[in-house]
Amino acid sequence: MKNEEQFPQVNLIEHPLISADLSIIRDKRTGIADFRSAISRVATLLAHHSLRDLPLRRSVIETPMTETEGFQIDTEVVVVPILRAGLSLVDAIIRFVPDAKVGHIGIYRDEKTHQPVDYYSNLPDGIDQAMVLVVDPMLATGGSADDAISFLKQKGARNIRFISLISAPEGLKRVTGNHPEVPILTASIDEKLNDHAFIVPGLGDAGDRYFGTE
Ligand code: PRP
Repeated sequence: MKNEEQFPQVNLIEHPLISADLSIIRDKRTGIADFRSAISRVATLLAHHSLRDLPLRRSVIETPMTETEGFQIDTEVVVVPILRAGLSLVDAIIRFVPDAKVGHIGIYRDEKTHQPVDYYSNLPDGIDQAMVLVVDPMLATGGSADDAISFLKQKGARNIRFISLISAPEGLKRVTGNHPEVPILTASIDEKLNDHAFIVPGLGDAGDRYFGTE
């Protein structure tokens, strides 16, 4: 059985441009500038897919020639990056929805226990009515995603989706099990986690590679 068939709520986004860019992102020889630009391109494609069902309301507009039907986005959009690495995916969504609000959740993974540690949050008002896009390039054990989604639910969010670049089956199992109503978009379902809970084949540590803190 293919990995994606095990996870019906997971939307695996496949595209030749994503395959080419994921190879740049995964390659350990890729430098910081190329790493950042490849992430930005994949993030744009993921953003495009994640907003496919954005609700619209009809309006009337006037072209220079005549009156005609127009459309406006009919929901507040809130992007929530999981710090730090999630920041790398924010701009791509804001490019499509320039008035989207951004909430931040700070979670890092303890290097020894692999458990998520929460250290910061700052969310905009109105999260209960908004389409909330939680973004993080990696979903490994799923602990960070699980925590972030639970926190957002506690704060009243009802329409949440999660966007990641690469995901491990172990993490997808955890998040889909605990939050079956939350769609997940990802560009890759990798093979597994290693003994240190790193995604294999993976891309290493996305935050360190993106911010140059390796
Ligand atoms: C990484 C990644 C996710 C998390 C995934 O963050 O960006 O947030 O680990 O692991 P999990 O699914 O097992 O929770 P990291 O702890 O490296 O923090 P950083 O983004 O600040 O580098």
